[in-house]
Amino acid sequence: MNDENLAIGIFDSGMGGISVLADIINLLPNEKYIYYGDSNNAPYGIKTPEEVKKLCIEICDFLIYKGVKAIVVACNTATSAAIKELRKRYSIPIIGMEPALKPATSIQSDGKIVVMATNMTLKEKKFKGLMDKYGKARDIIKLPCPKLVELIEDGITEGQEVEDSIRQCFNGIDINEVSSIVLGCTHYIFLKDYIRKFTGNNIKIIDGNEGTARHLRNVLKQKKLLKNTIEKEILLDIYNSKNDEEIINLSKKLLTFSLEKLEF
Ligand code: SIN
Repeated sequence: MNDENLAIGIFDSGMGGISVLADIINLLPNEKYIYYGDSNNAPYGIKTPEEVKKLCIEICDFLIYKGVKAIVVACNTATSAAIKELRKRYSIPIIGMEPALKPATSIQSDGKIVVMATNMTLKEKKFKGLMDKYGKARDIIKLPCPKLVELIEDGITEGQEVEDSIRQCFNGIDINEVSSIVLGCTHYIFLKDYIRKFTGNNIKIIDGNEGTARHLRNVLKQKKLLKNTIEKEILLDIYNSKNDEEIINLSKKLLTFSLEKLEF
């Protein structure tokens, strides 16, 4: 098989990367995809960077064994902990995520910027680098929200528990002083409408999914790895370390939720 006809591998600590997958499918509907969710080991945010690195290597080995032309690390925590090591180890393009601090700081405002992400993402070098580059002149609040990851892993995307958890996350923050919120964890994207409901319409909510999808397309184009044939349906295989039907069904449900036109 020519390399351009190989699949794109996408992985996450669990369900969050499904939101990235949806944006990528939207932009590149004719590509073939293999999604791997590591729900058995989620959340990554409470592990050590070394533990996360080891898990990422195991997943990438699996994806490469399955035959992929590029890998998207659709998880901010995994990117922070492992992207350098993965790029050293594998010769195919490895695309990562980062909290969208650049677009958030490019919006002219005196308001505070809240970055919602895991503790690890907020502590690792990658985020420190982003802060040095873009965050110096702005008031930035780092907000870890581990409970929101748990909700998505349990398939809870709506209802009172979601509302209460978001309110608890923002406890102590004066929302009237905030001008934008960065969703620096791919799980949180499923709760965007609820976060919007909590903040009201004047606050910008920014995530890195579309930027990652565009970056992937540019890299594939540059390396002449874009698939040329047109497909009538989405070509997707979903794997999960929990390895049961329920989790695969949840992945499909969340993908449909993100990509309304999707058909299975
Ligand atoms: C987690 O597994 O703790 C969250 C993953 C992410 O940062 O997207």
